[in-house]
Amino acid sequence: MTEHILRVHGGFPLHGKVRVRGAKNLVSKAMVAALLGHAPSRLRNVPDIADVRIVTGLLEAHGVSVRDGDQPGELILDPSRVDRAEAVEVEAHAGVSRIPILFCGPLLHRLGHAFIPDLGGCNIGGRPIDFHLEALRQFGAIIEKTPEGMHLYAPQRLRGTQILLPYPSVGATEQVLLTAVCADGVTELRNAAIEPEIIDLIAVLQKMGAIISVHTDRVIRITGVEQLGGYTHSALADRIEVASWASTALATKGDIFVHGAKQIDMMTFLNIFRQVGGAFEVGDDGIRFWHPGGELRAMPLETDVHPGFMTDWQQPLVVALTQASGLSIIHETVYEKRLGFTEALVAMGATIQLYRECLGGTPCRFGQQNFLHSAVISGPAKLRAAELEIPDLRGGFSYLVAALAAEGTSTVYGVDLIYRGYENFLDKLQSLGAHVEQARA
Ligand code: EPZ
Repeated sequence: MTEHILRVHGGFPLHGKVRVRGAKNLVSKAMVAALLGHAPSRLRNVPDIADVRIVTGLLEAHGVSVRDGDQPGELILDPSRVDRAEAVEVEAHAGVSRIPILFCGPLLHRLGHAFIPDLGGCNIGGRPIDFHLEALRQFGAIIEKTPEGMHLYAPQRLRGTQILLPYPSVGATEQVLLTAVCADGVTELRNAAIEPEIIDLIAVLQKMGAIISVHTDRVIRITGVEQLGGYTHSALADRIEVASWASTALATKGDIFVHGAKQIDMMTFLNIFRQVGGAFEVGDDGIRFWHPGGELRAMPLETDVHPGFMTDWQQPLVVALTQASGLSIIHETVYEKRLGFTEALVAMGATIQLYRECLGGTPCRFGQQNFLHSAVISGPAKLRAAELEIPDLRGGFSYLVAALAAEGTSTVYGVDLIYRGYENFLDKLQSLGAHVEQARA
């Protein structure tokens, strides 16, 4: 593949309007849910991103037909011919996405067997799948690991169970939901993740005929049903992309209206955005974010599971915090290696020091484990243009934000990764007045 390279002429405020469509981290799961139905499903507000194409490829490998609907951003998924996939077709998706692991439950229900290749996704920590496998075993699945991946079998109908997650993992919660909906009897999941994307997935499953109740204290109860139908659903907006554009507005001293942004899913972000010194205005069809002039304020910030400050919001906001006056303290508690991207910001002139200790907040799982998961940012710093190699999806977008904020021309390598989660981001940047041009290696 030709590597995509961007030249970014930075130092100009971005102004204008961008449209954000459905959340990558719901759309991909809702597509997998369609596999459980015995009728076609219609998913709307689907962004044109690489992760959607990856899940489409995996579904098609299993006999699900995926085609465009009548409206833009609509997918029709027909699971009437679900079949075992050729191992080579599944292996073709090894190492590129985390989504294959969520095929386990639906495939076990439909076929009694699932083959899952080695997983990929962003390199932001170890990203183990032990919670997933333990839960699947509790449902009665048999798991055989082989050098090329995992074979799972359901010798009989999977049965409901009681599961306590050691940590409120998004993926493991989705795994339990997608498996429990058709298992025999009741499943009680404790310490579940309750991110808005999970609640939207529950809404999708309920439309298909599932019985799921969300209780206080992270408890979800699922009563298994014999069979599910299809759904028609419009995906909730991508709150990670919304925060990415908001941080871009702040870091470049610009003004961006994000069409499609919803206040209800952004409340924690909006509070921090305001405390840092950013301004926003909530409208019926989106949120306007801007830098109101004057100094930005340094902040202590701790990432956490919902309703805390999302880990995916951290990276782009850190770029804006390099421009704030004083010391900001970041404590990353979700992924142990999500501050590695700051090295490039330091090379651009930012003053950021990483620490192994849990700084500023509650001690977390990583405190005793030698991971550099806290940061102190001293600002404001004048950012210089640089040569940047994109490390992961959100870190990559943050590099773009830094390059846009820095005076001079930066060269950004490995831009392909950003297409995994940001629809038409180059067009969007250009429509905001960014001076960017594509180059090829
Ligand atoms: C989802 O990842 C998202 N990905 C991530 O977004 C997001 O950062 C994350 O949730 C947290 O919100 C998708 O939805 C595809 P987790 P997921 O399971 O489900 C540990 C992006 O850029 N853990 O909640 O993989 C894990 O190591 C991506 O869009 C185990 O220890 O995240 C991590 O420390 C990046 N064992 C923590 O839990 C397990 O079996 C949270 O991970 C599973 C997870």
